[in-house]
Amino acid sequence: MLQSVQGSTSARFIPPYPEGRPGPYQNFIWLRTLMQVPNIVRNPLEAFAKFQFDIPVSRYKLFHMPFALVNDPELIRHVFVENAHLLKAEPIRQKVLKPVLRDGMLTAEGETWRRARKTIAPIFSPRHVNGFAKAMRRATETFMDEIAAGPKQLTIAPMMSRLAYIVLSETLFSGDINEDGEQILKDVAQFLEHLSAADPFDLMGAPDWLPRLTKLRGHGATSRLRDIVRQTAEKRLTRIDAGEDVPEDFLTLLLRAGDHEKDRLTIEEIEDNIITFIAAGHETTARAMTWMLYLLSHDHDARERAEAEADALDMDGIAPEKWGAQMPWITACFEETMRLFPPAAVILRTLTGDIDFGEYQIPKGTNIYVSQWVLHRHTTLWEDAAEFKPERFLGENRKSIGRFEYLPFGMGPRVCIGASFAMQEAQIILAVMLRRFRFDYSAAKKPWPVMKITIQPDNDMPMRITGRPGVAM
Ligand code: HEM
Repeated sequence: MLQSVQGSTSARFIPPYPEGRPGPYQNFIWLRTLMQVPNIVRNPLEAFAKFQFDIPVSRYKLFHMPFALVNDPELIRHVFVENAHLLKAEPIRQKVLKPVLRDGMLTAEGETWRRARKTIAPIFSPRHVNGFAKAMRRATETFMDEIAAGPKQLTIAPMMSRLAYIVLSETLFSGDINEDGEQILKDVAQFLEHLSAADPFDLMGAPDWLPRLTKLRGHGATSRLRDIVRQTAEKRLTRIDAGEDVPEDFLTLLLRAGDHEKDRLTIEEIEDNIITFIAAGHETTARAMTWMLYLLSHDHDARERAEAEADALDMDGIAPEKWGAQMPWITACFEETMRLFPPAAVILRTLTGDIDFGEYQIPKGTNIYVSQWVLHRHTTLWEDAAEFKPERFLGENRKSIGRFEYLPFGMGPRVCIGASFAMQEAQIILAVMLRRFRFDYSAAKKPWPVMKITIQPDNDMPMRITGRPGVAM
């Protein structure tokens, strides 16, 4: 249903975005799709056609493989929730991710996935996630001290990735890693780069023995990261077995997870899942925070309101689990940012059975997907879809958004396990940053959104930072 945004003021900031290729529906034939392959490799956001933002379902073939892009919220529910048992991981996505993430939760299937999800889900319960709030605040404040001492002209995108990784690694290992921090950060960046692009050979279904030149660089970084994670886990396990006091972080929770001995995760399962948390859990949050600072730097009313909220938040006086509720505007800005620039912009599966739902008959074997990029800008669902309007996510406006119309964290049994962790992390990081600094976009050219696993700016988002009144730089 088209959301009408109550309490919204006139024309608002429209951040840059590819509008969708022109051309009528009937011209959307195989050859045209084929011509999109360079776009799909370079920037999938530019491969969507304009009409796909207007219609409930679009279907096409790519290298003889049938695809269905679904934007009808009822059909999304029917396929991805009620018939989730008819979905399996799409082969190209697996080919790209599985060699790196192995049996981590994002790429595992069947019993391996079920066992990991069931055992790990309690670790992401509100009680545990709230327990990480102080560590998140501490890590952000230390990072902000470093920022204050450094240059005031920065590229925010790598800075936010670094901060989100430091925060995640504090909650994962409580600083228990001995290796050189700078080297790890480089390895993490290279590991994500290694993950990010589909190799053209994979898209074309080329045989596995053909070397993927785009993939060669990241192997060293990935295996170094895996070694560090495994050794840290083994050392911690030895300490637990010896009855020593250990930090209550993710690692300890993972090592202790499971009600019975047979449910305990092996070191390999823990390694795969920590690597998966690093892959799925820091760049996503970092990208959304980067885009939010960009959007706020162009909407000064929204920025002043967010800064005032951050200033008023008494982090020492109220319990960490109540911080989020004191930040409705910052939260709304973050949610609106994830509408416009969803960090994870595609949920892709292959159908293992036929779907027959009202007017839709979609056969087994179809690659069926939701693109949050398209869904969140769909003309039948969002009024002024291209405009930054955080008030969509406040009060009654928020309630009018259907469950399957806004899906930054996905849906169904494979919904993001880290959603509340990510929301809490973003709220804390943004509150700490906004009370301390003001961020102004500083390049003449606008940033262009490019999808490489996450949606990122093409120019690393240059910004000038200034201290907020009363804050020493
Ligand atoms: C703003 C930040 C984040 C966004 C937008 C996001 C988005 C998503 C989405 C859309 C999915 C579903 C993918 C699919 O069905 O194909 C997903 C799955 C997942 N996410 Fe997140 N995520 C975020 C943060 C995190 C964090 C912080 C963690 C962990 C620390 C995490 C761990 C995972 C895992 C393990 C899965 C796989 C779940 C499964 O298949 O059972 N994510 N995420």
